[in-house]
Parts: sequence; structure tokens; C-alpha cells
Amino acid sequence: AVSPFSRDAVLSGNYSETLDLADIDWDSLGFSYVPTDYMYTMKCVKSGNFSRGELQRFGNIELNPSAGVLNYGQGLFEGLKAYRKEDGKILLFRPEENALRMIEGAERMCMPSPTVEQFVEAVKATVLANKRWVPPSGKGSLYIRPLLMGSGAVLGLAPAPEYTFLIYVSPVGNYFKEGVAPIHLIVEHELHRATPGGTGGVKTIGNYAAVLKAQSVAKAKGFSDVLYLDCVHKKYLEEVSSCNIFVVKGNVISTPAIKGTILPGITRKSIIDVARSEGFQVEERSVTIHELLDADEVFCTGTAVVVSPVGSITYMGKRVSFGEDGVGTVSKQLYNVLTRLQMGLIEDKMNWTMEL
Ligand code: COI
Repeated sequence: AVSPFSRDAVLSGNYSETLDLADIDWDSLGFSYVPTDYMYTMKCVKSGNFSRGELQRFGNIELNPSAGVLNYGQGLFEGLKAYRKEDGKILLFRPEENALRMIEGAERMCMPSPTVEQFVEAVKATVLANKRWVPPSGKGSLYIRPLLMGSGAVLGLAPAPEYTFLIYVSPVGNYFKEGVAPIHLIVEHELHRATPGGTGGVKTIGNYAAVLKAQSVAKAKGFSDVLYLDCVHKKYLEEVSSCNIFVVKGNVISTPAIKGTILPGITRKSIIDVARSEGFQVEERSVTIHELLDADEVFCTGTAVVVSPVGSITYMGKRVSFGEDGVGTVSKQLYNVLTRLQMGLIEDKMNWTMEL
């Protein structure tokens, strides 16, 4: 008999899980891990293709201590969100973009990756199986975390002989403890996140471990996060540890061009299109730290952070504040359009959402 929780049963809607909401306080979601019901796993060997994945009860996974991901950091992750509409239906936002980014990252990290179709189907199955964890409309979203890792054993430095694709989910609210209030950034000019020719442009796990040190120092000083400069000239903006950055001056919105050291954010790309459709001129180019300090408004974008206004930037010991209370009108406008689209509150003329 087909298990009521099998991938096929879930995708065809024939499963018997109660669809009541999980019993948690939906008003106090932040961005911390909440265990849910199911995860999705799919394996393949080095020279092979991923075949059928499966849903299983959420829980710990077993890894050989010699797994490539544990020893040499051969791993990638993705992040995307599902929102519950007012009518109870669930919307995914551009999942095929995450699939494509994982394929690019896998190529850089010498890993096989799921096809776009396999990735999207796995995301759908995982979200549907964890439906009761998608927050009520307006209370947050279900953060979806796909992982791709070298799970096979290696000792000498080499690509792992086996790979695991896994998806887990967790309900989330705002990323920063500031909530929707502006964040305060410090510019790092000693440590760097990425180098030309390195892996800064793909979502490999090591990029995130590499920023923990500067982030901890910044947080201990009361800053929300760190803004990185390019490692060659120490003058051009790169990105914040967990998100991309945008600078507003008059009607022009500028953001660092994607050039190998900056993560090609899907929210970044979406905000560029939203801003253009709202009549702004958007430039993707090299942006200097001095332009940033002279901006009318600054904001960050990312799946987790959505659109976060920046209230102040501290550079070489000097603090520059933006706007009255830091929430600029442009970031507010773009945040509203993007999130209303993601939540199904306005017509999706871009065809970015996928209803489950
Ligand atoms: C995301 O925004 O989804 C990310 O992957 C950033 C992560 C540090 C939470």
C-alpha cells in the first residue's frame, strides 16, 4: 500500500495528514529553527543522476565522519519561502530560480545536482507534507532550505563518491531582531567574504562560515550585520553577510553588479524588476563606499531578510544615518509591492508565484 505520506500521495493531494495549523505561537516567529514534520531526501553517486527522492519524518541524518561535506565543505544550500494566501492556498516564489542557482553552484563545487523539475517537485512535496507549518496569512512564511552535500566518504581531497539532496522547512517571521525596523551595518575593511576566482558567487556553505567572525564582533558592538568591501581595492560594495545591498539616490537605484564575488540573489533580481516597473532607474555596476555614504536611502534584499531598510552605516569609526527613522520611502514602496505579490494580495503580472 502507498504510504499516506509518500511523495506521490502528497503531490496528488491524497494524504491523510490533518491540515490544522501547528500549535505554536504564530505571533512570535523570528528566524530561529522550529522542527517540522517531514523532510525530503534524494541520493546519487558521483557520476550519476539523482533519481527518485522520498519524504521521511523530519529528524537527524546519518553521515560518515569522512563525508566530503564534513571534511572539505563540499556543500551548497538554497533558501526560498512559501506563503499562505488569505484563502488558505499556498504560494511558492520563483522556485525554479533556486533550482537553477543550485545547478550553477553544483558545477562550481564539482557536485551533481537535481534537475529543475526534480528540485521544484521536491520543494512542492516537502511544503505540502508540512502544510500545517505554513504560517497564517500575514504572520510570516515557511522558509524552505534545500541542501546539496557530498555525503560519500573521502580521505584525500577529491569530490565525494556520493551526494545527498535534502530539503527541510521551518516557519519564520522577520530575520533581524529589529523586526521591520531599520538595521545598522558596520563596514568591514580587514576581513573579506569573497575573492575574485573564489566561490563568493555561489551559495556554498563555506561562504557563510567565513563571515561568522566579523558578524560576531559586529553584533557584540550592537550592529545588526556587516557590509563587505571588495578585497582588491577595498572601496567597492560587495554584500552583507546574508543579503545584497542597494543604494538610492533620487530616482536612481544602484546595486553591485554580479561579477563572481557577489551572490546572485533571487530577491535582488526580483527587486530590480519591481523597481523598474515602478519607474525607477536601476543600475547594476560598481558602487563605491563613498556613494553609499552619500545616498538618500540604503536597503538590503534577500529571501530571509526580504527588503530591510538600513538606518545607519558605520565606516572607519564614523556613523552615517539615513532618513528620519531610517525607513526610506523607496524601500517601503518596493517591500510593499514585492511582499504583496508573494502573498497573493496583488495580481502576479510577473508570473513569479506558483500555487500549490
Ligand atoms: C536566505 O536569505 O535565504 C539566505 O540563504 C541567507 C541565510 C544566511 C539565511
